[in-house]
Amino acid sequence: MSHDLFLAARQAMAKAHAPYSKFPVGAALRTEDGRVFSGCNIEVASYPEGWCAETTALGHYIMGGGGRIAEIAVVAERMDRITPCGGCRQRLAEFASAETKLFLCDQTGVVETVTMGQMLPYGFEGSTLK
Ligand code: THU
Repeated sequence: MSHDLFLAARQAMAKAHAPYSKFPVGAALRTEDGRVFSGCNIEVASYPEGWCAETTALGHYIMGGGGRIAEIAVVAERMDRITPCGGCRQRLAEFASAETKLFLCDQTGVVETVTMGQMLPYGFEGSTLK
């Protein structure tokens, strides 16, 4: 099951718009009811205005109906095992749980599986604001 999510992330990575960093990234996520959404990083000439692959995937996921996230896969062309940046960890955690699996991938498949709880320990939680 994790391999199909990796393939979705790798397909998304092929669409990356990363002319400045030349660092294509792809992400894919599966909801608890089985829907898959993916995204690539999108850079712009005003560098800070670009955004990550995980963020694009989250946009598709919200527009596709949202729900809870069960699994996430991330892949980068130039890394053997990419981990989501700090900002994306917080964004993913918004819709995931501590048990949500994160598949860290290289070009051929999943190389390591971790949980969101491991990726973002002691994260800031929205319940604090209620
Ligand atoms: N990038 C992602 O898409 N996801 C991450 O988790 C880390 C970084 C992108 C942002 C930028 O387009 C490029 O990688 C180099 O930082």
